[in-house]
Amino acid sequence: MESSKFQHVMEQVKGKIAEGLIKPGDKLPSIREMSRQLGCSANTVIRAYAGLEQEHWIYSVPKSGYYAVVRKSGKEQGSPVEQIDFSSASPDPEVMPYGDFQHCLNRAIEQYRDQLFTYTDPQGFPSLREALSKHLASNQVFAPPERICVVSGSQQALHMLAGMPFPNGKSVILVEQPAYFGMLRSIELLGVTAIGIKRTVEGIDLEELERHFRSNSIKFFYTVPRYHNPLGCSYRREQKQKIAELAEKYDVYIVEDDYLGDLSLNPKDDPIYTEDASGHTVYLKSFSKVTLPGLRLAVAVLPPSLLETFRLFKAASDSSTAALSQGALEMYMGCGMFDRHLEQMRERYRVRMSTLRVACERQLSASSGIRASIPEGGIFARLLLPPELPARELAASLRARHIFVMPTDLCYLRGFPKENAIRLSIIRTHETRIEEGLRRIVEIVQEMLVSSENRVVDWREGFI
Ligand SMILES: Cc1ncc(COP(=O)(O)O)c(C=O)c1O
Repeated sequence: MESSKFQHVMEQVKGKIAEGLIKPGDKLPSIREMSRQLGCSANTVIRAYAGLEQEHWIYSVPKSGYYAVVRKSGKEQGSPVEQIDFSSASPDPEVMPYGDFQHCLNRAIEQYRDQLFTYTDPQGFPSLREALSKHLASNQVFAPPERICVVSGSQQALHMLAGMPFPNGKSVILVEQPAYFGMLRSIELLGVTAIGIKRTVEGIDLEELERHFRSNSIKFFYTVPRYHNPLGCSYRREQKQKIAELAEKYDVYIVEDDYLGDLSLNPKDDPIYTEDASGHTVYLKSFSKVTLPGLRLAVAVLPPSLLETFRLFKAASDSSTAALSQGALEMYMGCGMFDRHLEQMRERYRVRMSTLRVACERQLSASSGIRASIPEGGIFARLLLPPELPARELAASLRARHIFVMPTDLCYLRGFPKENAIRLSIIRTHETRIEEGLRRIVEIVQEMLVSSENRVVDWREGFI
């Protein structure tokens, strides 16, 4: 009975904060005043204030009182309620394990104390690397802790690998086209020479891959075999085997960006790393899409031939990955919270993706002009558009109607032929909004196609 009373008080205070009746920094009524206002005991208010403090709605100042800490959500800030976000690549804050992580951070601080507030091993906490070694093994990535490096996001590893010398003495990077924008940006900023190879939902032309490996000075091939960004598709097993085989034959390294590996729905879908017996694969896994991207945590598994150079570059880049994040992740993995959370995330994203698939089947007729490729899992899907409807123009029209999508033209090397497509992400779009979001996209596409058909062509176009 008492417990529901204090929760009731908590809800009342949260409601006032949400409505803006209590503003950031405002002092809350004293315990006595609040108990009088709500007609409850002082003890109930004390418990409620303690609960609100624990959830970071308020903070206390000794001998002064309690004050509001306010984090308004998008809705409270008056952002349009009908907004549908198919563009974001960072997880939905509403499903992130803040509470669990907070608990792990506190435990990590208690257990490691001063170790968390100083420089640590550039390769990562030895105890975390041991835990990661076990975690990776459950995904068929077998590596001892000595070959594992904790990095500050897989973006850091990609940037370092792009700029690092490789033992094969070669200098060009071969990238799938389209490819993850962050990798292309690193290549461009570092001034590294890159060649593109076309990737489609079917895979890549393995003969063309072999020609590149044989004839060009390829230091590594950058690939996202599972749940590609931006295409959403994955390689089949034979394709991965062939890539590993060619890497060995031509002494070319593979940088395998398995950023969503933890979300794999198929236990038999092994990474290229597992197929590689010759030590030519660098395996990368990010924790950003399944936990909190702000922790900046990812893992790189390196072949022995690259380990020393990678360590040097890592130490030069940031001395060490934030110890606090590492300590918390170790706790999070160690107590089973991570595995439980992963199961929920897999299921959540699976449901959203299958909702999108069903919506596409229902709404995209052959005459819609749109071709969808919707994978089984992962977070991205792709809509191929008719040529008369440029993806950027569509994205701009959608944005004006509060629907956010990403045109994929950002994901190409300069000069590489681009597909006219948009990427749809389901990472922040609840299943209840997906059908509606797609309906509005189709509606706007049809409107734009009709108006492009009705456009009167001026005979002087092309002459002036
Ligand atoms: C394919 C791919 N690789 C790497 C990254 C970078 O992830 P992290 O947050 O670990 O740096 C992303 C981020 O979206 C991505 O999509």
